[in-house]
Amino acid sequence: MATERTFSILKPDATRRNITGAVNALIEGAGLRIVGQRRIQMTKAQAEKFYEVHKERPFYGELVEFMTSGPVVVQVLQGENAVAKYREVMGATNPAQAAEGTIRKQFAESVGENTVHGSDSQENAKLEIAQFFQDSDLTA
Ligand code: PPS
Repeated sequence: MATERTFSILKPDATRRNITGAVNALIEGAGLRIVGQRRIQMTKAQAEKFYEVHKERPFYGELVEFMTSGPVVVQVLQGENAVAKYREVMGATNPAQAAEGTIRKQFAESVGENTVHGSDSQENAKLEIAQFFQDSDLTA
């Protein structure tokens, strides 16, 4: 298995509840290394671009509004099979369907306010990382 990187966001419901350290503990406990991390206030333009793929979906406006409703923590995670491993650690998008031990099972409040985002493919991970980080920001 190759070492790879994935992109993660700790969403505004996580910063609001001051649980970013608890979420990071689950990330690190799963063997993923946080090689880049920054707390930012996402602009509307950034959120619209990031979620552009969902533009036609009925919840797009609500999603953009939520992601700009407070600070987020953008992260790059590194490890073996990082994209798939992080999706597993996050759990299902809808916390009601998330498996025991996952971040969303433990912390997510709803399908919209679900605590974390993680890239769904290596290709998207590269694109998403490039929206928020430069190579020189990342160090293992
Ligand atoms: S996934 O993981 O991409 O297959 O999930 P998907 O169901 O396609 O959802 C994509 C993102 O949209 C968010 N979402 C919602 N936001 C607000 N309201 C509703 N109803 C809703 N349904 C889905 C979901 O949290 C996903 O966000 P990210 O940041 O990509 O995980």
